[in-house]
Amino acid sequence: MSDITVIGSNMIDLITYLDRMPVEGETVSAPDFEMGFGGKGANQAVAASRLGSDVAMITMVGHDNFGKQQLANFQKVGIDTSCIGVGNSNSGAAPIFVDPSSDNRIIVIKGANNELTPEVLDSYKEQIKNSKLIVLQQEIPLETNYHAIDLAEEFGVPVLLNPAPANNDLNLKYVSKVEFFSPNETELSTLTGLSTSNLDEIKTAAKFLVKEGVGNIIVTLGSKGALWVNKDHEEIIPGKKVKAIDTTGAGDSFIGSFAHYFTEGESIPEALKHANEYAAVTVTKKGTQKSYPTKDELKELVEA
Ligand code: RIB
Ligand code: NA
Repeated sequence: MSDITVIGSNMIDLITYLDRMPVEGETVSAPDFEMGFGGKGANQAVAASRLGSDVAMITMVGHDNFGKQQLANFQKVGIDTSCIGVGNSNSGAAPIFVDPSSDNRIIVIKGANNELTPEVLDSYKEQIKNSKLIVLQQEIPLETNYHAIDLAEEFGVPVLLNPAPANNDLNLKYVSKVEFFSPNETELSTLTGLSTSNLDEIKTAAKFLVKEGVGNIIVTLGSKGALWVNKDHEEIIPGKKVKAIDTTGAGDSFIGSFAHYFTEGESIPEALKHANEYAAVTVTKKGTQKSYPTKDELKELVEA
């Protein structure tokens, strides 16, 4: 049984690199296009796996050719695919637009990811029970995440919930049960209803969630790093400044690598420091999973 179980999405990323976004009715030509494997769940699983973790993915691929390619990719990366199902819909896909400042705009068509229902999870209870950590995002039905949180609670397995993309319907009752909740500023504001436009406000919102019962809040602050808050402690773990080329999937690489370092036995601040480094490396390269280094590649890049 694998140490880390990621329950979540997989998508085919269709990334267009643009000089500028077209306005309504306009056609622009773009310098570059790449297709790759993405989806927040899959990205996080791949990051942890590249670093050497034993990872199982619970997800649904589409019945189309993309679905076959996803499965082959999971196998190639060394992820346990025994909990991956084939749905009746097309595969999830994500048209992504990256501008010259490396910022992105993403459209997500969930496809088969919508077929990852609570009932599907029930077939994989053994895997969930025997994990060291369950990792969740928000590109599958919310009810499935709630069921995952309930099962993890029943089995005493900690949960890391990355509430991306933001969802107004996310229920605080479930969030309060997780050991790690890792939003960005916007996602934190969406859940708490509080403003998060500066560090003081972010801290206040994070502390509110600690009072509600969340174990640890890890707010990602982009290149500034991450804020970690729990009932005894508050700390900023600074990020690494790099020249960004493509930030797509950087947040996922942070979550997946944190899951790796933490389940390997590192303390929370150590794991966060290493996750910041890992995410920084990925933004210097084009693509999503394509830009996630292995442990050896990372060593070379950090020493370079
Ligand atoms: O977080 C980045 C990911 O968001 C992309 O890989 C895309 O598939 C969307 O899910
Ligand atoms: Na990248």
